[in-house]
Formats: sequence, structure tokens, C-alpha cells
Amino acid sequence: MKRRDFLRISLLGGAAATILPINLSAKGSGKSGFTLWQIPSQVDTIGNSYVFQTDKGRLVVMDGGMNEEAPFLRGFLSALGCEVEAWFISHPHNDHMGALTEILKKPGDLKIKKIYHSRFSESLIDREEPYNIYAREFYAELDKLDPTVTEVIDLKEPGLELKIDGMNLKILGVTNEELAYTNPYNNSSMIIRVWDRAKSIVFLGDAGIECGDKVLNSAYRNDLDCDYLQMAHHGQQGCSEDFYKTIKFRACLWPTPTWVWNNDAGGGINTAHLKTFDTRRWMDEIGITEHHVSCLEGLYRLD
Ligand SMILES: [Fe+2]
Repeated sequence: MKRRDFLRISLLGGAAATILPINLSAKGSGKSGFTLWQIPSQVDTIGNSYVFQTDKGRLVVMDGGMNEEAPFLRGFLSALGCEVEAWFISHPHNDHMGALTEILKKPGDLKIKKIYHSRFSESLIDREEPYNIYAREFYAELDKLDPTVTEVIDLKEPGLELKIDGMNLKILGVTNEELAYTNPYNNSSMIIRVWDRAKSIVFLGDAGIECGDKVLNSAYRNDLDCDYLQMAHHGQQGCSEDFYKTIKFRACLWPTPTWVWNNDAGGGINTAHLKTFDTRRWMDEIGITEHHVSCLEGLYRLD
């Protein structure tokens, strides 16, 4: 999703691709259970991309970013072993599933054993144009997969718990068809808790106010408390101020490009209509001092 589209969708950026040195240590480096990498956008646009390696060397991906980021992501995964145990797609916006769509078209040496998502109904898909085209393209690729090679798991309800070596996962939220009246795709972001012996992380995808509040008021409320929180919708116009100020966490993961971080429409800081500075102020008010901002820090590794 390009800056123009993101700004338009938000109602209310263009550097060359970033080439980062990747310091990948041996398999099984995450002794506490898993290692996480927050991958910055390679095309200076929004994008949500996280890779995990368990203590036994198995790979897990959360989203994966834009279509154009597929070559970088493929290289990153190849360096870690070329086989993905589980791939989670929060929702079918192309800044989240675009890279996977491209990889599914031409998987090459990359093997994916399981893909977890929460499929939209036909009516929900058509709630956003032109993103319905990309969503249908993604679903068409899923439908082509050989189930004996790649299992596609369509989650209809929250609550599923998984354990992959030392990595634990719990699905806290899935597609919310009843929230399609507003912010339809983002409000159907899967919300996922991941933890091991040393740390816990909650991934909010692009959850909007209604999506976040639904989990906040659900049986999974306590699962939202965590060490690291992925800021919803790239850090602006995601979950509510009340959501952030109710749950307990100590650090922020920001999958955020420079122009979103700075609310920059091209004319400098605060020349757009984004709400990033509101979210940043809420974090200051909460007292959060540990921030991992993808556009500032580059590739961030958490063991
Ligand atoms: Fe997004």
C-alpha cells in the first residue's frame, strides 16, 4: 500500500530500497524459546513483517510485508533454512500478505508447511476497493495450494493455542464480520499473542478501535498484557487510547515507515493527517520508554 493510498484510506513516503546487513546467527539461537526479527520496510511504505526462529531452528512468519518485499523476505528466510513451519496472515491488505502472495506464485526452494489466516466472506472482501482485487488474488493462491504440501488453516473463532518448539502462540481475535460497517479490513485483523520463557508479545495487525475493544472486552482480556506490543495499524488510527491505557505492556514495536512516524505527506513533519503523534503522546503518558521503530532502528532482533 503506497503512501498516497494509505493517506487516503486514513482519511485524514519515497526513498530507495533499504539494504540492511543481516546478522543471522546459528539455528536455535533463541535459547529462551524463540528469536524475533522486526523487518523494516524495504520499499519505504507501510508494511508489517516479522520473522521468528524457534530454539530448535524452525521458522515462523507474521504477515511478511508488501508484494515488492518478497525478494528480500525470501532471501531472509533462505538464510535461515528455507522452510517455514507456520505463516500467519493478520488480514488480506497487501502490505501484510502481498509478499506471501508473490512467494506462493513462485515458491522456488521455499517450503511453507502451514498458513494460518481468518478468511473474509465474499461481502467483506468487497467492502474495500481496490483492495478486494488483491485479497482475491491472495485467496486464489491459497486455493491452488496442494494440501499435502501446505496446509491452510482458516480460523473462524479465537482461542486456538499452538506450541512450536519453545514458542507459544494464542489466537485472541479473528475476522469480525459484524464490524464491517467501519474500517472493515483492519477491524478484521487477527490478534495473536506469542510468548516463551523470557518474553511475551501481542501482535495487533491493523486492528481498529472496534476490533481492539472487542478483544479488550472478551475472555481474552488478560492475554493482552505483555512485554512487547506491536502498535496497531503501523502506529496510528489503530486501537483506542483507552485500549492502550488499559492493558499493561512495557515496550512498543512500531512497524512504521519514516513518513508515518513523522506524519509527513512530503512537506515535512506534521504535514499529513495521520494520528501517529497522538499514539506517541499516549505512550509518553503511559510512561513507555522502550520503542523499537522500524524506520529508525532498522532490523530489530529480540532474543
Ligand atoms: Fe497495514
